[in-house]
Amino acid sequence: MNSMSVHLSENRRNREAFGSEIAQARHELVAGLSQKSARIAPKYFYDGLGSRLFEAICLTDEYYVTRAEAGIFAAHARDMAAAIGPKPTLIDLGAGNCAKAAGLFPALRPAQYVAVDISVAFLDEAVGKLQAGHPHIPMLAVGADFSEHFALPAEVEASRRVFFYPGSSIGNFTPLEAAQCLRRFRAACGDDGGLLIGVDLVKARPVLEAAYDDALGITSAFNLNVLRHVNALLDSDFDVSNWRHRAHFNEDQSRIEMHLEATRAQFVAWPGGGRQFAAGERIHTENSYKFTPQGFTTMLAQAGFGVTHSWSDAAQQFLVCYARAQ
Ligand SMILES: C[S@@+](CC[C@H](N)C(=O)[O-])C[C@H]1O[C@@H](n2cnc3c(N)ncnc32)[C@H](O)[C@@H]1O
Repeated sequence: MNSMSVHLSENRRNREAFGSEIAQARHELVAGLSQKSARIAPKYFYDGLGSRLFEAICLTDEYYVTRAEAGIFAAHARDMAAAIGPKPTLIDLGAGNCAKAAGLFPALRPAQYVAVDISVAFLDEAVGKLQAGHPHIPMLAVGADFSEHFALPAEVEASRRVFFYPGSSIGNFTPLEAAQCLRRFRAACGDDGGLLIGVDLVKARPVLEAAYDDALGITSAFNLNVLRHVNALLDSDFDVSNWRHRAHFNEDQSRIEMHLEATRAQFVAWPGGGRQFAAGERIHTENSYKFTPQGFTTMLAQAGFGVTHSWSDAAQQFLVCYARAQ
């Protein structure tokens, strides 16, 4: 096996870095929970259980996103490979179980595969399994939060860097944050790389709202699980049974919003503080922006990318773009 794990707990220097990341996470969580309209950033969904619940969401009847994107990859992988060119360094951002990238290996034939995710244990397991099935592709698992800073370890090949950002994860950022994120990717891919990215398109409200509130309650469990993860990180005492899942399409902002709503008045404590929540008060946990093809390709151009190739499905549910650096 030639995969490497560069997550932050492996040596003393990195344990110190990990300690400072926990402190940063606590600071961020307290700041978000203390706002008048409380919020928790969506990256906190992903502890081990959160990562598994997201896999389950992808299997629900209502969550068309994964199937629509998979259909586009299946139909156009060769065109994507032609646009990307030979032997890319494939850098999978928020890789999760790495299944989407793995599906593209036969077409893209990457010279190196680098999987980046904040959910480190889940990522390590996924990359370990993938490496066993593809012993000829050098692989690297990088545990990192790429939402604010973006530094790749020196082991990542500098040439032909193609960032892979599927699943419309870019839609979790506000338009301003997404633009900053795209600019960081553009800077990191050099002049001979690019960005292969999938985004969800605007569609009818009932389809969108069902996708984020499935009948089996898996998205509800995924949303509620953030409170367990916050308790573990912050040592807070959220009682999950006092909250319920809410999802709606905010048409003005072109985004699905997910919230957790207090089912009763309660005080939630954490070391050095806490907050009173009234019954019905909400914590905003996720935005998922929906794009138009024109709007999104304009964002790519504004971030400094050159030629963009785009592929969609027959129902125009989803869009995959390959934006070349130049
Ligand atoms: C919606 S899931 C997508 C997983 C997979 N790429 C897919 O499309 O099926 C988002 C993934 O990004 C990871 N993630 C979320 N925020 C992140 C961040 N700020 N830094 C690194 N990884 C992050 C999560 O752990 C999760 O695996």
